[in-house]
Amino acid sequence: MIKFPGLIDIHVHLREPGAEYKEDFSTGTAAALAGGITTVFAMPNTDPPILDQASFSAAAALAEAKACCDYGIYLGAAEHNARDAAEVSNLAAGLKLYLDATYGSLLLENLSSWTDHFEHWPRSRPIVAHAEQKTLAALLTFSYIYQRPVHICHVSRKDEILLIKEAKRRGIPVTCEVAPHHLFLTEEDGKNMDSGRASVSPRLASLSDQQALWENLEVIDCIASDHAPHTLKEKDGNHAPPGFPGVETTLPLLLNAMQEDRLAKEDIIQKMFVNPKRIFSIPDQQDTWVEIDETHSYELTGPELFTKVKWTPFEGKRVQGLVRRVVIRGETVFQDGECLAQPGFGKNIRRNNPV
Ligand code: NCD
Ligand code: ZN
Ligand code: ZN
Ligand code: ZN
Repeated sequence: MIKFPGLIDIHVHLREPGAEYKEDFSTGTAAALAGGITTVFAMPNTDPPILDQASFSAAAALAEAKACCDYGIYLGAAEHNARDAAEVSNLAAGLKLYLDATYGSLLLENLSSWTDHFEHWPRSRPIVAHAEQKTLAALLTFSYIYQRPVHICHVSRKDEILLIKEAKRRGIPVTCEVAPHHLFLTEEDGKNMDSGRASVSPRLASLSDQQALWENLEVIDCIASDHAPHTLKEKDGNHAPPGFPGVETTLPLLLNAMQEDRLAKEDIIQKMFVNPKRIFSIPDQQDTWVEIDETHSYELTGPELFTKVKWTPFEGKRVQGLVRRVVIRGETVFQDGECLAQPGFGKNIRRNNPV
């Protein structure tokens, strides 16, 4: 048996409110526990999106009643909500900027709205962004000009990880995360899946992109699932929405990579505990840990997952390393395939601890 601290996934989509048929706070946080994750940060591209005090409070009330693990909730940046968003900054996980088009209605198209958010959002609070390619370069310029930290979501390309590496070397306060599907799948794997199922944003990348991520592990601050559940009906239909469920398969995939000597236990702890805690000022969870049976090997399979959508792009993949037990604040909340936490057990990590 090996032990980990309660792991943190800073990028999940729990779909509540508005798309509870895909996921909700209870199922998504039970899935997190099954994956050894004791804190999740929920993204704001819900329906309606989380943009102000009213929409934030509505989502926070649902989370308070239903979450099985601890959580934070991001505010979304829109063209005209910089002031409204800043008013709720104390209670939010951070501000999410959608700088490229992806699933949902949020997108900052105008330079003036970027400026507006950088002017209003408190300097002490995190800013995270979906920013690919030239948009990433533009955001790094903002980080430099405003001299404030930005965190880049789901980095997937060689050019991007190398640009972030260079930006860090030059003192720009940038951090980044990579998603497990970009570490463990390429566009070649995507060709063997139905095209709708392979759709994800950013798209699956080339082998050389994937290799660049592994060669620059030290540049990657966090590993985050980008758990983005859509039903199989949606994925297999016309206009499949982008996204993969992933919150409960991330740690098993990393444990398996650890068995293959591709990364160390300490890398997992850095990227899913130490760095997220530091970057987002997340308070300690007392008496919290995860127990792993590192000898147990099994196949990942959709029907056995806790996520409502019951599928995984890693269907049939054999992994070694099973989450046996999860303890939060001294209580066993997951054991041998069973979620034991009651909905509402999870706490908002900002409740007593505004950044
Ligand atoms: C995400 C979703 O479905 O909300 N989809 C995805 O492919 N990653 C949106 C996002 O994170 O860009
Ligand atoms: Zn995104
Ligand atoms: Zn994102
Ligand atoms: Zn996402």
